[in-house]
Amino acid sequence: PPAPLVDGQGRRIVYLRLSLTDRCNFRCSYCSPASAETHEDPLERTEVARLAAIFGALGIRRVRLTGGEPTLRKDLLDVVRDVSSAPGIDEIALTTNGHLLATLARPLREAGVTRLNVSLDTLHPDKLRRIAGRAATLDRIVAGIEAAYAAGFASVKLNVVVVKGENDDELGDLARFAWRFGATARFIELMPFGPGAPVPTAEVKRLLEAQGIRLEPDATRGWGPAYHMRGASSAGGRPVTGLVGFIGAMTENFCESCNRVRVGADGSLRACLGGRERLGLKELLRGGASDADVAAAIRAALLGKGARHDLEHARGKLLPMIGTGG
Ligand code: GTP
Ligand code: 5AD
Ligand code: SF4
Repeated sequence: PPAPLVDGQGRRIVYLRLSLTDRCNFRCSYCSPASAETHEDPLERTEVARLAAIFGALGIRRVRLTGGEPTLRKDLLDVVRDVSSAPGIDEIALTTNGHLLATLARPLREAGVTRLNVSLDTLHPDKLRRIAGRAATLDRIVAGIEAAYAAGFASVKLNVVVVKGENDDELGDLARFAWRFGATARFIELMPFGPGAPVPTAEVKRLLEAQGIRLEPDATRGWGPAYHMRGASSAGGRPVTGLVGFIGAMTENFCESCNRVRVGADGSLRACLGGRERLGLKELLRGGASDADVAAAIRAALLGKGARHDLEHARGKLLPMIGTGG
């Protein structure tokens, strides 16, 4: 078998974040600032399948499908089936805003998705529209989360991007809301791709305590940057408990343990979400490169991956998350 994929810092790369489109039915300012360009030419189904096979042979074991909003791809279920049948790939996850999940949860599961993350920043319908745009409806997202559990997804993760003055007053409610399903709310530090002020993870923990969540250490690990604590609270006089997660991308840098590579909606590989260098995989594929050529180019690009992101200084110069998939 070929040598495992290792980056220039000696980190094993086993996880691919693959963006299927840079279109989205929501408009969250932190992800799709007005300036965000859109590409109407994402990778085609056959190109995704070919890349999945190449990455699988290079030792990638987990693929997370992202966007934009991946559920806008008409051929999503076929893409999932293709990726899940690629040799070596044993988990396929998907990150979604939940808008189309009520009908898609079961087919996604049947097609081979093993894990789901759903973005949800607030439990107030009006605030949700302010954050995510007019199309965003709380009822639909909640129905999507319920459908995911009904379809047999074991533990759905709810992504909460914490923005100062916006949703920092309802972190406790979001944690308790997640526990109703056995889900985990994960509080994410805002990364500077658009407007809004971040709330450091240390402050998020203080706010959670102030909002009625007692926190204790917990060893549950995920696949990446999130770590967890056990939370306890009461709801309607009854004790409730569950996990909460933290993704301190700015104040608790986790780049040292990075295990991932991304392919954006423009079909280019980025070694880091905070990197400006890109490798045009789509152009390689369309230009007649062999699988071996593509694999060699991927290896070479990862040798140039930096030790850590420098998002503080890259403000305004990077493709926003709607294009890279986060
Ligand atoms: P798993 O580890 O597979 O559970 O997924 P995840 O939490 O990495 O994926 P998700 O798409 O739910 O992203 C949650 C948050 O983590 C988003 O804000 C992402 O931008 C952020 N994130 C994911 N990977 C990285 C990374 O490598 N570096 C940084 N700085 N942020 C990341
Ligand atoms: N900072 C942190 N997280 C972000 N996301 C989108 N933009 C940002 C940002 N600027 C999150 C979304 C989604 C995940 C893929 O990335 O909320 O859950
Ligand atoms: Fe890896 Fe870059 Fe994310 Fe750091 S910011 S964890 S180096 S992808």
